[in-house]
Amino acid sequence: DALERLAAEIDRDATVVALTGAGISAPSGVPTFRGEDGVWEHFDEGQFTYGRFRSDPEGFWADRVALQRELFGEEYEPNAAHEALAAMGRDGYLDAVLTQNTDGLHRDAADGADGGDGANGAAEDGKREDDPGAGDDTPAGTGEPPILELHGNARRVRCTDCGRRRDGDPIFDRAAEGDLPPTCDCGGIYKPDVVLFGEQLPGAVVQRARTLTRDSDVFLAIGSSLVVEPAASFPREAGATGATVGVVNLESTPVDGAADVVYRDDVTEALPRLRSLLERGADG
Ligand code: OAD
Repeated sequence: DALERLAAEIDRDATVVALTGAGISAPSGVPTFRGEDGVWEHFDEGQFTYGRFRSDPEGFWADRVALQRELFGEEYEPNAAHEALAAMGRDGYLDAVLTQNTDGLHRDAADGADGGDGANGAAEDGKREDDPGAGDDTPAGTGEPPILELHGNARRVRCTDCGRRRDGDPIFDRAAEGDLPPTCDCGGIYKPDVVLFGEQLPGAVVQRARTLTRDSDVFLAIGSSLVVEPAASFPREAGATGATVGVVNLESTPVDGAADVVYRDDVTEALPRLRSLLERGADG
């Protein structure tokens, strides 16, 4: 079937890149943005723009506290799909994860196997905006594939003046208690450390993601509606530079017609199965 065709293209010599979206975290209980019961059915996307953050930080933060509660009101654990990708990375079958998700679950899955703290990548006190590592969650010196967070990490906040990043929970708590907008010791206003609509993505991260996309032999788009740029264009860019493009999603996407392989299934079925096909291939 389609997944077997995909597995046949993947071996340890191939450069394999995965792009993930909200669908990979849905089985962990994280709400998706679009589709049935998506977040944008209950919230107005237009209230969460960069323009509104600049012109009305108080109103923005008041609404953002409600959105944060909807998105991250509970603790989430990585699911079998995150685990399968992490295992493929450890086994040498996956070279990078590009994610649009801000939940930190890929990092938790990668850390889980070697005893990480499962803090959703939140505690990064002191990282600065000009730090090339911002949004580039490559574990130092482990040889494990990088996890590029294209849209940032919603468990953190960043000061818009001094650039300091810190764990978001206490800041969201302050905002929920009426400290609006919450400010840093330096006096600057905190922003959730995510890319807002109308805001530039972190340039260095996007550039690295593009290079990985163009260098890939196999490009897998997993659990994303593939409608938000620039990530939505990555599968076509990969295809244009010769990659085999696979789409794994419960529903159809605008990229399906241009993909080499479309596999319509739940990520928690598809990815563990892909992993076991690869292991069987290596044994046989
Ligand atoms: P969406 O909510 O737009 O799409 C989720 C996709 O996952 C849909 O195509 C679903 O069919 C699919 N899906 C859901 N559950 C699944 C499952 N169990 N197995 C397989 N597929 C499943 O999420 P994204 O594409 O990630 O931006 O959205 C992109 C961006 O739009 C987000 O990063 C966010 C949002 O506005 C920012 O926050 C900047």
